[in-house]
Parts: sequence; structure tokens; C-alpha cells
Amino acid sequence: MIDLRSDTVTKPTVQMRRAMAEAEVGDDVYGEDPTVNLLQEKAAEIFDKEAALFVPTGSMGNQIAVKLHTKPGDEIIIEERGHIFNYEMGAPSALAGVMIRSVRSRNDNAMLTWDEIAAAVHVNLPYYACPTGLICLENTHNFGGGSVMSAEQTGEICCKAHELNLPVHLDGARIFNAAALGESVADLSKHCDSVQFCLSKGLGAPVGSMLLGKRDFINEARVWRKRLGGGMRQVGILAAAGLIALEESPKRLHVDHENARLLAGGVANLKGVSIDAERVQTNIVIFDVSETGKTSAEIVSQLKENEILAIPFGTAIRMVTHYDVSQQDIEKTLQILRNILK
Ligand SMILES: Cc1ncc(COP(=O)(O)O)c(C=O)c1O
Repeated sequence: MIDLRSDTVTKPTVQMRRAMAEAEVGDDVYGEDPTVNLLQEKAAEIFDKEAALFVPTGSMGNQIAVKLHTKPGDEIIIEERGHIFNYEMGAPSALAGVMIRSVRSRNDNAMLTWDEIAAAVHVNLPYYACPTGLICLENTHNFGGGSVMSAEQTGEICCKAHELNLPVHLDGARIFNAAALGESVADLSKHCDSVQFCLSKGLGAPVGSMLLGKRDFINEARVWRKRLGGGMRQVGILAAAGLIALEESPKRLHVDHENARLLAGGVANLKGVSIDAERVQTNIVIFDVSETGKTSAEIVSQLKENEILAIPFGTAIRMVTHYDVSQQDIEKTLQILRNILK
């Protein structure tokens, strides 16, 4: 199988499995797991934040941040295609009691500008309106096609939000993919009040994400992690793989990006397929197939018959490159797509 559904399908490397077997562990609920503590220190250092917390999933990291930055009855502002809004089971309303004020960016890449956010911000309002409590950004943007927000754009949004006393949370599930374009993860998240990133996607760890921010915020986050059932015990076994993911995997993400560009360039030449291949910057390729005479579901099902997995989204198909996908796999995928669509 060539599995292009997501970079979440990556399996731990031999080096990770070995480190997991040999990991020093302790009870992390007591803060006594040396491998988890090391991972948290390293992540905080790399991001230049005061503290970090290992959480089981990106969703838990995001939702703890939403909960801590807001109070029930607040609104959070997020781009209409954002993960926190669409793919986290309604958790902002279920857990934090907040409303979502979604904003559709004019940009195809789903990156909000400050002007777009400002038009939706509610501060100093008449008593009946719902106040804005938080702005959520996503970098890279999954359903914006792996698009990247620069450190300058992020910084501008954060500074303007802070002038209004609004915090900013960054869903940086794939921030290392953004950083592979040249800016450091510390710069990309510098002015954000909190940031979450995943060890388990393109970085290849089997499980885990990190939530980062000020020390007091992370102390509170630890309470909420436990409250949500995310206090794990000898979890250094997972943190050991996370350490390798953090230190080794970022170096090779450019390979996934080259493969994604090869894929995008190839699908752009297929009759009826619509994609702006120039816009593919990282490891996510989304292309529209509405003019091919087949539905996305039909094409995905034919791909599956040929041992290739992808995900249909409305009239589009999403394919994600990662370290279990080679250049030859991309060439084979393009060949099979040509056959299906000829
Ligand atoms: C942008 C983004 N944020 C958050 C998440 C959630 O991560 P998890 O599946 O670990 O909850 C994902 C998962 O795909 C994602 O793509």
C-alpha cells in the first residue's frame, strides 16, 4: 500500500523503537519520568518558551489551550477551514463552553490577515454581544493545502491582538514543516501565547504532542490534562520516541516537500484536475477533480484497488507525503491516476 491519507500513518523508526525499549521511566503524573522531563525541556528550549507539556494528542493540546485562554460564553476566532473548529468533535463548545466565530479568509490558502480577524473581533461591546476571548491560528494550514504563515505575518496578528488584550493560540501540528522553508519554529511562534505541535505526524513518533507557553499556563495545563484523563504514568516509553522525532526528523522534511511538489506538478497535467501546483509549499496536496467526469470518491476507490490510499474531500482529493512515501511511490501514484482518468 502507498498510504497518502495523512502523515499520521507514519510508523516509528527502528531507532525510535530501540529508544522506546531502553527508555528510563518514572511516574509522570508525579512529574518523575526523566525521559518526559527531558523532552519537555528540549521542546521548550527549541521553541524558546518558558515551559512545555507532553500531551497524548494534538487535539488535547489545542483544547486545553482553548479552555485556559477563555471563559464560558466567549467567542474564539478561527479560519473557517481550521482543525480546531472542524475536526475536534465540537470540543471548544463541549469543554470550554465557547462559541466559534469562524472567518472565511479571502486567501485560498486559508491564512487569515489581521484585517479579516479585526472585522470579526468583539471587544467593548454592548451587553448582549458575545466577547472575543481568543484567536486561533494554524501553521501549516491543513485544509489550506499545507500553507505556511511567515513569522512576520504571525507576529503582526499577535501584536495587534495583544493591543486588544486578546491571546493567540497557534495550532502548529505541522509547524516543523513550515520551519523547513527557512524560519525557525521559535520565530514562527515567537509572539503566540501558546503553541501546540505534534510529534506524531511528519516527525514520525507513534503518539504525542507538546503544548508550550508561559510556566503558569503550563502548570494549569497539567491540571487540565489530568482532569481530561490524560495523566499517563511511565510514558517515557513514548517520550523516548518523541525525543528522536524532535531531534532527527525535522532534518528530512524537505524530502516530503519535494515529493509533494512532484505529485502536485504531475496531477496539474491531468485532464479535468484543478490545482495551483505553485502553491504547494509543504507536504499536503489537495486537488479538485470535479471536471474529470468522476467523483472524488470514485477516484479514491479506484486508487484503493491499485493499493493507493487517499482521502476524498467534497469535490477534491487530499494526498499527504511523509517518510514512508518515496519518490518512486509518487511516480507510481501519478501513473495510476493517469490510467484512471484517461
Ligand atoms: C492541523 C491539525 N491540528 C490538530 C490535529 C490533531 O491532532 P491529533 O490527531 O493528534 O489529535 C491535526 C490532526 O490531523 C491537524 O491536522
